[in-house]
Amino acid sequence: MGEGVLTVTEAGRSNFDRRALFDDGGLGRRDGALMMGGVRLTDIAEQVGTPTFVYNADSIRARYRALDAALAPMPHRICFAVKANSNLAVLRVLRDLGAGADIVSVGELRRALAAGFDAASIVFSGVGKTVGELETAAALGVGHINVESIEELDLLMQVASKAPNRIEVGIRVNPAVTADTHPYISTGQGGIKFGVPTDRVLEAARRISEHPHLELGVLAMHLGSQLLDPRPYREGIERLLGLLAQIRAAGIGSIRALDIGGGLGIRYRDEAPLSPEQLAEVITPLLGPTGLRILLEPGRYLVGSAGVLLTSVLYRKHSGGKEFMIVDAGMNDLVRPSHYQAYHDIVELEERGRPESTVDVVGPVCETGDFMALGRSLPGLVAGEHLALLGAGAYGFVMSSNYNSRGRAAEVLVDGARWATVRPRETAEELYRSEIAAPFPQ
Ligand code: LLP
Repeated sequence: MGEGVLTVTEAGRSNFDRRALFDDGGLGRRDGALMMGGVRLTDIAEQVGTPTFVYNADSIRARYRALDAALAPMPHRICFAVKANSNLAVLRVLRDLGAGADIVSVGELRRALAAGFDAASIVFSGVGKTVGELETAAALGVGHINVESIEELDLLMQVASKAPNRIEVGIRVNPAVTADTHPYISTGQGGIKFGVPTDRVLEAARRISEHPHLELGVLAMHLGSQLLDPRPYREGIERLLGLLAQIRAAGIGSIRALDIGGGLGIRYRDEAPLSPEQLAEVITPLLGPTGLRILLEPGRYLVGSAGVLLTSVLYRKHSGGKEFMIVDAGMNDLVRPSHYQAYHDIVELEERGRPESTVDVVGPVCETGDFMALGRSLPGLVAGEHLALLGAGAYGFVMSSNYNSRGRAAEVLVDGARWATVRPRETAEELYRSEIAAPFPQ
């Protein structure tokens, strides 16, 4: 982590209207207390401790329903990208709404099945599936497998020859469309590892359609994440439709669905994300006339705004002319600020009307890069008081680690006025339980 990053300040950045951000997450204030739905978040911080991720079932439902309604003119299925938040209780909320699941490993497949998703509603994506994963997916009957290379297709053909049932296959195309997002999460341009390059799609389609146990059912793409602009979707879909025409012209007529991936961005600060209606306005005129089923794989859009990370102030410290607020959530809990320099808004759980000052909000992990916010204007909280990091429902807990032998945070689900711990905080003992201290007999 270069020095430059650590000197970034966010002057003025906290002076934006938080109302939209609060609305997105079903957050509000009651007598100065931060509420999620009908629950006072301080109650959770006090009873469960911190750091704790808290998810709002109602805001997940509202997001799902808005997207589902916008796509209603076309046959479609929303397959939640499990990688964004794989807690079984969150998966269950989405399954109950009728969502399918988009998975990238057997681990995610097992979670989705454990949460009650029907195997047939599951899409298996991912650039590095192992032979074992392909066999398991085939045996359990996932809806379709998106292949990402000719080499993977070779392996899948071998697996399919021994599989009892036909396997439906999607070709994940790399449409060579550049999306305007962080380079680590842009996945649809040329020269990166994802997808089958457009000039090899026809060959892949032929090979799939000639295989007795494979069926080419889907053309797929995923352009990147946190997209705020409809342009990449339009360009990507145009390329998919061009390829669809080529495949059909080659006499292959089995494609029944187009999977346009995930990527819908959310508000972390003052962004103007694409609404489901704006997305639909762009994609429906292109996709509607095909009559094909449209699949989407949103992750962040469904759960990102619906989650917060609760943390407590451990110390205030002045050093080198700077003021630090040391909190109990570290980069092992929420890696996004240090990994992508991502902005997460930070608010106090109880408003006390104290004046603001500029602080670096840092965690307890032994890395200078362990920060939640740099140069952030925040009210003067003291040790023991609580904060919430907003927009932590996607790529939060799932990217957390045990670095510094820190147990992973607890997870809580709020549903209206009720709340429940849906994953307890990991204990130190759980971290080393399967380790063998003395593997060799004396
Ligand atoms: N489908 C595929 C094939 C994907 O690779 C992804 C995300 C999604 C769907 C869901 O994308 P979403 O709708 O959430 O944008 N850890 C990063 C984000 C990585 C996204 C990777 N792929 C972050 O914290 O920003």
